[in-house]
Amino acid sequence: MSWSPSSWRAFPIKQQPAYEDQEQLKKIEQELRSFPPLIFAGEARELKRALAKVAKGEAILLQGGDCAESFANFNAQNIRNLFKVLLQMNMVLMYATGKPVVKIGRIAGQYAKPRSSDFEEIGGVKLPSYRGDIVNDIDFTPEARVPKPEKLIEAYYKSAATLNLIRAYARGGFADLRAIHKWNLEFLKGNELEEKFEDLADKITQALRFMEACGIDPDNTPQLKQTTLYTSHEALLLNYEEALTRQDTFTGDWYDCSAHFLWIGDRTRDLDGAHVEFFRGIKNPVGVKVGPTMKPDELLRLIDALNPDNEPGRLTLIVRMGAQKIATLFPPLLRAVKEAGKEVVWSIDPMHGNTYKTEAGLKTRDFEKILEEVKQFIQIHKAEGTVPGGMHLEMTGSDVTECTGSISASITEEALRSRYHTQCDPRLNANQALELAFMVADTFKDLK
Ligand code: PEP
Ligand code: CO
Repeated sequence: MSWSPSSWRAFPIKQQPAYEDQEQLKKIEQELRSFPPLIFAGEARELKRALAKVAKGEAILLQGGDCAESFANFNAQNIRNLFKVLLQMNMVLMYATGKPVVKIGRIAGQYAKPRSSDFEEIGGVKLPSYRGDIVNDIDFTPEARVPKPEKLIEAYYKSAATLNLIRAYARGGFADLRAIHKWNLEFLKGNELEEKFEDLADKITQALRFMEACGIDPDNTPQLKQTTLYTSHEALLLNYEEALTRQDTFTGDWYDCSAHFLWIGDRTRDLDGAHVEFFRGIKNPVGVKVGPTMKPDELLRLIDALNPDNEPGRLTLIVRMGAQKIATLFPPLLRAVKEAGKEVVWSIDPMHGNTYKTEAGLKTRDFEKILEEVKQFIQIHKAEGTVPGGMHLEMTGSDVTECTGSISASITEEALRSRYHTQCDPRLNANQALELAFMVADTFKDLK
């Protein structure tokens, strides 16, 4: 039962690239091991404490970002726009519920993708699947699809630069509540959402003025001008994660310092597999996707493996059943966990169970189904007297057309092609994400 950052290597593993040059791979892993960590263990502990509050219903979790970050779209504008829309959603949820929002981006390392098939076939040509920019390239050519170890290094540097900008925005005045009117995104202009958000911003500005009169202002109360956006990704490539796993000098514990929060995907959560083995030894707050095939006894064993001390905030269960299935599949799992007295954060991923292909062959998701799954998730918790902790979304701050529907964006299946830019799964655009926040805020509020 002894654990080390490399003990996962003795376990069966899924979804890993087949590198041709193992010697080069070893060299690159060695190089990564010598690089500085991207986060400090103390930050991961702080997030764990914040998530413990989410588990108790004292805060709300908002986790969101690209399905897959891409090297080509690595620029300030994309990072800034996601940051802005997360801040806006934060305000909507916080104002409606009176609770703080714990924000985690799928950002600064969300580069590896599990795939349902090892190969992709187009017009009789069969090539290895694209596995994310940390592994290979998306172009449909034999050369592009070869896994290249040096991409691990590029992913590290791009994650570091992304995280650097996020930290600058969070602390450098961008999140100052006095600037709330500046968070509106260009393409919200003229939209009814713009008016709704401006209305909220006015109320917050008024409250701020009142507090200033009482002597509380952003200069003497830094919480009013700073925020925290934690980072997260699916820890799929365990050699990368191992290389960034470091022993904390304060506590002696091991932390995966590639991000604050890591999760295990629905395809790699086998109880006897390498991913669970790796996760059980790191002390970060962690998540597991809970999809339609999960059974109650399996879930309980997974919880025991990942959180044997029943530590609050350590484990987030990210439910992704689909709007059609959640009402039947989720309640038995929820009851089993409740009856066993397990401390977990429950979060809803309303994206991955609601994907379908249009006749034209584009992967999409309908806004109504996404909204419906979130609402059902909250209703089920209400009926059981448990806490719906928050949401896990695939979203972007850009004006893309990847998911259909919503009042503000009203995208039809035919319109999807105009700005369909995702590297992998369809994301909510900024309008759709903000609209979702407005529409679920009241449901979260009615809880108490
Ligand atoms: C994802 O979150 O991008 C993902 C692949 O999800 P899941 O593991 O739930 O399918
Ligand atoms: Co996805």
